[in-house]
Amino acid sequence: MKITINRKGYFSAAHKLYNNYWTKQKNIEIFGKCAYPNYHGHNYEYIVSVKGLINPETGLVFNLYDLKKIMKKEIEEFFDHKNINIDIKEFSSINPTLENIIIFIWNKIRKSIPKYFELKITLYETINNFVEYDGK
Ligand code: NI
Repeated sequence: MKITINRKGYFSAAHKLYNNYWTKQKNIEIFGKCAYPNYHGHNYEYIVSVKGLINPETGLVFNLYDLKKIMKKEIEEFFDHKNINIDIKEFSSINPTLENIIIFIWNKIRKSIPKYFELKITLYETINNFVEYDGK
């Protein structure tokens, strides 16, 4: 019997979506306001979902207090109030889209969660726009 435990986290960060090989016009056609040259911010929300068996000794799948510490260290302290394009070297050459950011977050969290747990991340850029990734 596997249970999924979830914890939500938040960070605010700036970005710009841009392909340097395209004209400014085409960038705005594809990325909309996210292509504006002077960057803009989003209040990102994300959910970390850890799925596994209940430990009979504790009654827990994964300790939420430990998950809170992992999320604070790996994600919130890393992203909050940063300019993703400029401050985070991995995004100097890839667009900080929801898709690319969620893979990056999943990889960072995965390192701290034992392999026998399944891990899924959900990442919201706005109330309406969100992505999910489970490593597959
Ligand atoms: Ni944007």
